[in-house]
Amino acid sequence: MGEMPRRSPERDFSGYNAAQAERPVRPLARAAVSLALAGPRAAGQVPGALAALAPRVAVELGSGAGVEARFLAENGFEVHSYDADPSVADAYAELARSLPISHTTADLAQIETFPAADLVLSCATLPFVRRDEFPALWRRILDSLRLGGILAVDLFGDRDDWASTDGTFLSRDEVEQLLRGTDVLELVEEEREGRSFSGPKHWHTYRVLARRT
Ligand SMILES: C[S@@+](CC[C@H](N)C(=O)[O-])C[C@H]1O[C@@H](n2cnc3c(N)ncnc32)[C@H](O)[C@@H]1O
Repeated sequence: MGEMPRRSPERDFSGYNAAQAERPVRPLARAAVSLALAGPRAAGQVPGALAALAPRVAVELGSGAGVEARFLAENGFEVHSYDADPSVADAYAELARSLPISHTTADLAQIETFPAADLVLSCATLPFVRRDEFPALWRRILDSLRLGGILAVDLFGDRDDWASTDGTFLSRDEVEQLLRGTDVLELVEEEREGRSFSGPKHWHTYRVLARRT
């Protein structure tokens, strides 16, 4: 994905995902799980003594090859994963045979509500949501987080090489505005020359970890 096609339907996410199955779990997912497991249980779950027995719920948006979904499930989360790429559906069906992963093939912008979650994870996906569809999706993401729940997302900046394509590329101010009303645990903005799936690229990214308050 060095030369990023302008429109999402032309982007080769299935090719990307096919090359991901063997890579390590993303650090953002590891950090999010540590925070979610270390903190007090998010509010709004099963009350009373049963609360300790109920599994934590994780929602993963743009879950790709399933590396992070598997990691979440292996760490005790009930996982609801979403991705528009139909080519990964079989891999999720296989994962679901032994792990509590429920996968939906869909455009995130078309999903009206997400399950109430203790953790929402989205690695390298939200920037590909169209700008006009992003605010409503963001609202639904925050609405799905239980009080005390962890939000862990990658966002891209407006100086990213792909910022001229369809998607959501944000200034620092815009990111800070999106996070208003949350407790920001980490907001790392990075700019660097690097590589993408198929070529050199200037990256401008934000790595966000926040707790819903
Ligand atoms: C760069 S990949 C990242 C995948 C995975 N999270 C990872 O870290 O390897 C972006 C993923 O988002 C999915 N995606 C992009 N736009 C989407 C949309 N509007 N709705 C649902 N999934 C989308 C793609 O199919 C792809 O799997």
